[in-house]
Amino acid sequence: MKIVVLTGAGISKESGIPTFRDCKSGLWENHKIEEVASPKGFMNNPTMVQDFYNQRRIQAKGVHPNAAHFALAELAKHHEVQIVTQNVDDLHERAGSKDVIHLHGSLFRMRCMQCGHKFEHHDAWYHEDICPKCGTSRAVRPDIVWFGECLAENDWSWSVYHTEQADLFVQIGTSAEVYPANVLRHNAKRAKIEINIETDSRIFSHTYEGPATIQVNQFVKDVLEGKYEAYQRKNS
Ligand code: OAD
Ligand code: ZN
Repeated sequence: MKIVVLTGAGISKESGIPTFRDCKSGLWENHKIEEVASPKGFMNNPTMVQDFYNQRRIQAKGVHPNAAHFALAELAKHHEVQIVTQNVDDLHERAGSKDVIHLHGSLFRMRCMQCGHKFEHHDAWYHEDICPKCGTSRAVRPDIVWFGECLAENDWSWSVYHTEQADLFVQIGTSAEVYPANVLRHNAKRAKIEINIETDSRIFSHTYEGPATIQVNQFVKDVLEGKYEAYQRKNS
């Protein structure tokens, strides 16, 4: 069975990473979102923004994947699972998932605005640091999709492609407020499943309401016990 899983901040919440909509005040870890997650915010104060992501890297390294991340990795041992995450943390990978598209980029990747070079980076980055490829200083930024920016085209095309092929489309822990991740479900042709502490059964054919650590496990158990077999496309 082919399963596409779209995840959002809710799946990492029980690992100890706060979600965005939790910040009712519009603050993300005590910063205005537009100051730390927009090209304009970066232009205005690159040192502060770099420092913000340095902190996010430390935070992500200090937490562990939870039962929901592990359950999805287990599912992939039995079925074809493509994860599409809006999260910039690496908890899916650390739980053992191999096929992960990071729609909004990654905390652990940097990008040079001068030469386009992208590279993995796990520690602090200082704005004066030089690009390892072209040597330019003050040109490297986190490879994260900020507000007002487009997704990497390949990431989006592959996400749509996989979703169109999927027998099950599962949306976990996302408020679905951010375009275009929030419209991916329209490309799903078969079962549409939502796992969240609040679910919407008008949109999804099956819902699991409650914390991801419990409900993702239940979902995986259901799949492994054959609950969704009827949705499996017959090989033509
Ligand atoms: P949000 O913070 O918007 O939504 C979190 C969702 O997780 C909500 O629907 C909650 O109900 C749900 N939730 C909270 N705790 C949960 C739990 N324990 N188990 C299951 N669900 C739980 O996060 P996203 O939808 O991921 O973009 O936000 C989308 C994008 O908006 C982010 O990727 C980020 C942000 O701006 C960028 O950084 C570009
Ligand atoms: Zn460069």
